[in-house]
Parts: sequence; structure tokens; C-alpha cells
Amino acid sequence: MGANAKAGKLNLAVLISGGGSNLQAIIDACKDSDFPAKVQMVISNTPGAQGLTRAKNAGIPAITIDHKNYDTRQDFEEALTDALSGHDIDLICLAGFMRILTPGFIAQWPRKIINTHPSLLPKFGGEGMYGMRVHQAVLDSGEQYSGSTIHYVIPEVDKGEIIIQKQVDIHSDDTAETLAKRVLASEHIAYPEAIKQIALKSGF
Ligand code: GAR
Repeated sequence: MGANAKAGKLNLAVLISGGGSNLQAIIDACKDSDFPAKVQMVISNTPGAQGLTRAKNAGIPAITIDHKNYDTRQDFEEALTDALSGHDIDLICLAGFMRILTPGFIAQWPRKIINTHPSLLPKFGGEGMYGMRVHQAVLDSGEQYSGSTIHYVIPEVDKGEIIIQKQVDIHSDDTAETLAKRVLASEHIAYPEAIKQIALKSGF
């Protein structure tokens, strides 16, 4: 450890909505004792999300906060804040979390929320650009490359500072589904790398 190194690891809260394959990549990276971060908790806004099972299998506390049970975004986010508090969270990782966070919530966690997006931002980002829609838009536009971006979250959707990008080739016979698979594999490499970079910069 360097002179500025803190004891312990960067504590992560991973927020998911679905399959949680990025969560799995982060959990797997954390199994290496040299990896400078640890998944402290997982929160899903979708009951029954596959990612919740991945967390439980890894022995990580996982809870559901179903946004449908709240009248407003602010009410949902208050529940999120309550759940996060007291867990010594250093970094919130959005991993396929399909809710837009309000500026008020983001302001509580300055440069402490990061996200993965399945395109080479700033291309094919913004509100409404998520999941399969992104890949179809990339194919429709005749791009030669796509990829993934890990970035800081700011109130402007998908506009925060880029931490890491991974480029993937587009094949002439690609469908949105085949491209999505290749891009997702690149996210699984990029996300742990980005977390490691932040942890090391923070002295962990
Ligand atoms: C990932 O491709 C992620 O980039 C995307 O959802 C997928 C989640 O996969 N997120 C967005 O489109 C948000 N803008 P996972 O649940 O298997 O990690």
C-alpha cells in the first residue's frame, strides 16, 4: 500500500433492474484479493430480478425497492437513500439500472455514481436510449463500431465524464441481439477496470 492508502476497500452499492451480468462481472472481479473494491450491497428496483439471485449466491445483502410502490421519483429515491445510509458506501454503480435519477439524488453523491452504457458515448445516449434500442439505432445508422462506456452520472442523462470505453466491431450480419451480446461482454471487462481505476485514485 502506498503512503496515502486507506485501510480496507472501496465499498460499492450496485443498483440493478434485471439480469445483473455486469453485477456478476463486478462480483467476480472482487473475488481477487488484490482487487481494491468490495460489493457491500445490491439494490434492485425490480422484484425478482435475476441479479438479486446472483447477489444472494455470492452472500451479498440484496434488497428490492420497487419503484411502483412510490408515488413520485423523490419518494422512491428517499427509500433508496435510507437503504444506502449506514453502509459506508463509497461508490454507487448503476449496472443495468433502468431508472433515471433526479438531480437532487445525484447531488447527494458528487462523483460517486457511475453507470455503464451500451454504446460509445456521446453517440447513442440520452433519455430513451437504453437496452436493445441502442443497438438497433447503431445498426440503422451504419456505424462501423460500437462499444461500451463507463461514465460518471450527472443530471444530464449519459453526459457525465467518461472513465473507460471499449470498442467492438460491427459485423455485416449483426442483429441488435448479436451486437448486444458482444457489447455486453465488453462491459464486463470495462466495469471492473473503471472501479479499480477509481479505487486506486481514491487511495485504496
Ligand atoms: C447493459 O448492456 C447496460 O449497459 C444496459 O443494460 C444492460 C444490463 O445488463 N443499460 C442501459 O441501457 C442503461 N442506459 P445486465 O443487467 O446483464 O448487467
